[in-house]
Formats: sequence, C-alpha cells, structure tokens
Amino acid sequence: MAFRWEQQFAARTAHMSSSAIRELLKVTEQPDFISFAGGLPAPEVFPVAEVAAAAQRILRDAGAQALQYGATEGYRPLRALVAERMTCAGVPASVENVLITTGSQQALDLLGKILVDRGDHVLVDTPTYLAALQAWSVYGAAYVEAPADDQGVRTDALGPLLRARPAFIYCQPNFQNPAGVTLAAERREALVRLAARHGVPIVEDDPYRDLRFEGADLPRLIEHDARLRAAQTHEEQYAGGVSYLSTFSKILAPGLRVGWVVAAPELIGKLVQAKQGADLHTATFNQMLAYELARSGFLERHRETIVREYRARRDAMLAALADSFPEGVTWTHPAGGMFLWVRLPEGLDAEDLLRDAIAQQVAFVPGAPFHPGGGGRNTLRLNFSNSSPETIRVGIARLGEALRTRREAAVSV
Ligand SMILES: Cc1ncc(COP(=O)(O)O)c(C=O)c1O
Repeated sequence: MAFRWEQQFAARTAHMSSSAIRELLKVTEQPDFISFAGGLPAPEVFPVAEVAAAAQRILRDAGAQALQYGATEGYRPLRALVAERMTCAGVPASVENVLITTGSQQALDLLGKILVDRGDHVLVDTPTYLAALQAWSVYGAAYVEAPADDQGVRTDALGPLLRARPAFIYCQPNFQNPAGVTLAAERREALVRLAARHGVPIVEDDPYRDLRFEGADLPRLIEHDARLRAAQTHEEQYAGGVSYLSTFSKILAPGLRVGWVVAAPELIGKLVQAKQGADLHTATFNQMLAYELARSGFLERHRETIVREYRARRDAMLAALADSFPEGVTWTHPAGGMFLWVRLPEGLDAEDLLRDAIAQQVAFVPGAPFHPGGGGRNTLRLNFSNSSPETIRVGIARLGEALRTRREAAVSV
C-alpha cells in the first residue's frame, strides 16, 4: 500500500494548490499548439554564444571559485555593480544594501517569510502576479485589493487601506504581469509619500523595467523614497521602506536564476538569515556569469535586440486583436514587457472560452486567479514574447473565432 502522505503534510500546505487551469494547459506542450499562456521569454534571443564564451573565461580564470560555495549575500563584485548602478540612479547604495537571490521569485518568498504573520494583509492592485500570491499565502497572508485602472494603482483611494496597516504594499510599476499596465509618474511619488506617512513598507517588483518599447523610463519607487529621505534625514546609505526587486531573467536568461534585492541594510540582514535556510546562496557560477555579461556592457546592447523583437511581437498581437476580435472586447496597450490583458463582455467566462480555444489548438490564461478577492472571470492574459509575429497572427485569429462562436452561443441561450 502506498504511504499515506496526505496525513503528514503540515497545515500550511493547505494553502498550496495546483490549479485546474494548469491541468488544462498541459495539452499546450503538444506540437502545433499555439500557447499565449506561459510567461516565457523568446528562446531565439538567448545569447548562447556569449554565455558560452563568458563561462569559458570564468572557468579558465577563476574555475575553483566558480565551483565553490559562496557567501549567502551573493558574489561581492555583482553586489557592488548593482549598488553602483542604483547609486547612479539616485539611491545611495553600498554592498550592504544588496542581496543576490535565486531569481526575484526567491526574494518575494523570503520577504513573505520575514514580513508576513498569519492573518496579515498584503495590499495588492489587481490583477496581480500569481506566484507572489502563491508565495505569501503559505505564510498565511490575506489580501486587500487596491483599486487600479490603466494608470496603475489609484493612489487617491489608498489612505483608508493604509490606515489598516498592511504588512506591505506590493507594486510592479512597469508593464506589470499580468495586465501590462505601467504606474503613472505622479502616482509613483504619491504612493511613496503615502506609504512613508503611514509607515507601511513597499515591495517594488520590477522585472520588466528594461523591456520598454517606447517612452522614457520613469523613476523607480525606491528613487522617490531615497529623494524624500535625503531631504529629511541626509542619510548616506539607503535605509528606507522600499525593497526593490529585479532580475537577470528577462534581459539575460531565466534559467540562470539570478535576481537581486536593494533595500535597507537592516532588512537585507534579515533576508540573509532567511535565505540561509532556503539555499545557502545563489549558484556562484551563475552569479559570476551574470556579472561578467553585465560588467562588459554586453547586456545593454543585448537589451536593444530583445526590445526590438518584443516590440514587433507586441505590435503583431495588437494588430491581430484589432483584426480578429469582435466588438465589445477590449485590451491593454502595454508600452513594454511580455503581456497584455483582455476584457471580454460581462457574462462571458474566460475559462469556458479556454476550453473552446484548446479545441482550436490555442491557449491563454484566464484572469480570475490573478484576483485574490474573486472577480475577473471575463478577463484573460496573453503573452506575446514567446511566439513569432506569424504565429501570433494565426493564434489570435483562432482565438477570435473561438470567441465569436462562444458569444453567439451566449446570445442564443
Ligand atoms: C512580476 C514578476 N515578479 C517576479 C518574477 C520572477 O522572476 P525570476 O524569479 O525569474 O527573477 C516574475 C516572473 O515572471 C514576474 O513576472
């Protein structure tokens, strides 16, 4: 008889679930299937040759170090590089402000581990990043949804929510996953001021910042916070309430699993303790690779290639949506990133549509799970980074067909 694991699982695992949608999406692995469901970068832009050359240099010049255990805080030259770049952006940072993590997903998990007590609230704008919810729910987080529109979270409505003292505010300021929305410039400053006034930390999750297709970069929340603090405290090293998370996943390769946090040294110290129990440290070799490619300026040039490619894919998707989707359906126009968000007419359920779409060999992710408080059943996420423009045209036409059929069925009922 099989061992009865069910009875052994800790109570906290009750908050872990694999969704029915994930089961549905297993079929997308078949050949000829067009999937807009995943969140994957384009494999065509992975710089395999440059990574191979850098790996050889590292193994030749510092092979033993690359294969050895390292400090939990991360590879010091990489931390120093991150600190230097943040300092140039106006956030006075030293290595003590930086922790290298195993992807920014680990940073989200570690922040939940050290900041969330069972029953604590996390303030999120919806729809929000599913894997952040997954990470924090295990620690017993509940969610408060802040109202948001196509300019991001509505800061004019935040006061009463902040007075209830959430554990932190979670915010993706640029081309957020899943909706592709960017937080407006004036709201960034307002959000930071409000959070500081109420003594509520902000987790600024910013993996897509470098994937901007048009318009100028907007200041990070941590930059606003540093400026505010400099005016009040004259501090020489950032010690404020914003934790800034970023990653090499989108501009280099997600398989390397190298990300970072910039935050107050006190918070970094606690994160280091939490990380020790998780994985001791992020893979030394991968950190050295990321450092090598970032330091040489290669990544800045490479970013232009990615942006050119993703912009063409976004444009192909926007054009295909305009051609193929029936009236009454709306979608976001992201200025960067990897996703856009579709709103179906009220009463149409994206999960029902997914079943029809799968029969047509095309898939997406229904929007409901991105809403921790419920709702969003008539919404869905489309990824454009992982399909060529031609595949996007074919896939969106199939989806448009499925949508038309479902709408007609809904009308005739
Ligand atoms: C909003 C957001 N945060 C964090 C992550 C995690 O990225 P990684 O762990 O690869 O750095 C992702 C990945 O898709 C994301 O979309």
